[in-house]
Amino acid sequence: MEFSTLLTSLENGIYYITINRPDKLNALNRQVFEELNRALDEVYSNEEIRSVIITGAGPKSFVAGADISEFEHLSKEEAIALAKRGQQTFFRIENAPKPVVAAVNGFALGGGCELAMSCHFRIASENAKFGQPEVNLGLIPGYGGTQRLTRLIGKGKALELMLTAHMIDAAEAKELGLVNHVTSPELLMEYTRNLLTLINSKAPLAIASCIKAANAAFSSLNEGYETEAQEFGNVFDTEDRKEGVAAFLEKRKANFTGK
Ligand code: COA
Repeated sequence: MEFSTLLTSLENGIYYITINRPDKLNALNRQVFEELNRALDEVYSNEEIRSVIITGAGPKSFVAGADISEFEHLSKEEAIALAKRGQQTFFRIENAPKPVVAAVNGFALGGGCELAMSCHFRIASENAKFGQPEVNLGLIPGYGGTQRLTRLIGKGKALELMLTAHMIDAAEAKELGLVNHVTSPELLMEYTRNLLTLINSKAPLAIASCIKAANAAFSSLNEGYETEAQEFGNVFDTEDRKEGVAAFLEKRKANFTGK
């Protein structure tokens, strides 16, 4: 399959999806989403694929968020549609009938943390960094992060991370239950591959049923996702969002006024 923002390969039943925009720290733009959806079509339809690893290209970043340069001129309605598109793509990952594991090899910020959280579980390298820094831009997480972070680590810690925009390291992410294991950067892929090779030796229908049943404990049909998309749209109408996005693109500190 031909992609320009992803690298994909299938080896021994494991399908590797590598987000490949290393010069932009693998930020998720429109094209990445379009290609990710095509790669997910393959995951759902190709019987040779037994499990999936999602990672980022280069040594520095898994995914450093949604591509902020696409946030400059969006209307509220377009912003809601953008959030819903991201949510839908990540629901497809979460509901895949095959294990999808994030191998987090560096920054997993904003949409990158949300992508990792939509995977069934996460393995991190020691240099991984996690965070939801959207408030720095006058924004909020819009691809399911307000829901999945709260479910994974509890409301208090989730709100602390979202409200402070703090980045946490791999050790703290493990302590919080955000990642299952931490490895050296060199061993990240081997460690993840070994876990999936073990899982691939089990009964595929039983694996699919485990995922379906575990997902049913946290239904994606709750109103939280809709609230998140609407609030994501609401902040797009603010002066602070314009200031926050402009400040990032101009590489300066934002000056928020509460308007
Ligand atoms: N969207 C668009 N471009 C991004 C990006 C994003 N989310 N994250 C990084 N980039 C770009 C930078 O603009 C820069 O591009 P340039 O070389 O053309 O100027 C390039 O990726 C490298 O990033 P840089 O900031 O120079 O690297 P750094 O090591 O100094 O800092 C981060 C790394 C992750 C701390 C910093 O890039 C950052 O804060 N990114 C945004 C994180 C974020 O807010 N994500 C949530 C978005 S909703």
